[in-house]
Amino acid sequence: MKAIVIYNSQTGFTKRYAQWIAEETKAECLELSAAKKKDLSACEVIIFGGWARGGSISKINWFKSNMDKWTDKKLIVFCVGAGPIDNPEIEPALKQNFSDTELEKVNLFYCPGGINYEKMPVSSKLMMKMFLNMLTAKKNKTDTELEMIKMLSTSYDISDKKYIEPILQCLKK
Ligand SMILES: Cc1cc2nc3c(=O)[nH]c(=O)nc-3n(C[C@H](O)[C@H](O)[C@H](O)COP(=O)(O)O)c2cc1C
Repeated sequence: MKAIVIYNSQTGFTKRYAQWIAEETKAECLELSAAKKKDLSACEVIIFGGWARGGSISKINWFKSNMDKWTDKKLIVFCVGAGPIDNPEIEPALKQNFSDTELEKVNLFYCPGGINYEKMPVSSKLMMKMFLNMLTAKKNKTDTELEMIKMLSTSYDISDKKYIEPILQCLKK
């Protein structure tokens, strides 16, 4: 099956997952700006990865605007975020990016990434700081919020190649 992995990544975690998937599937791996210039009609599988951005998947609108053209293809989307995989809020949050009709056509996955303040643009660093300040100022914080404050205070990496396994399984179906 001819597959392509397309990604949008700000600090490198999504790129790393895209490369892992491409290596395992022998697929071509392209950054979104390069993929936009490419004719994807011969691809049987399109795998798109974006990072979690305030509950949305980065650049998902590009993917969704092309879905109508891709009715003959297997479609996979993976989102890379800062949280661990066992957070029950992840699945509903990911699904919110799609309509019910779109959800019937797309296979959705989550991969834990991390935070890399060193590679983050200033605008993103500011947004993270504002989010952290808001959380810190909150009264009666839940355990999850306290944990989040601790995690987001510094860079960390919880990415692992094992998280691409469900995606590889989906490709075999
Ligand atoms: C402005 C901003 C908003 C973010 N929102 C979320 C979020 O809603 N959920 C989450 O899990 N991670 C969130 N993150 C963290 C990134 O998704 C995470 O760092 C991811 O690993 C980045 O992937 P990348 O290295 O490919 O850019 C946010 C990061 C930034 C800068």
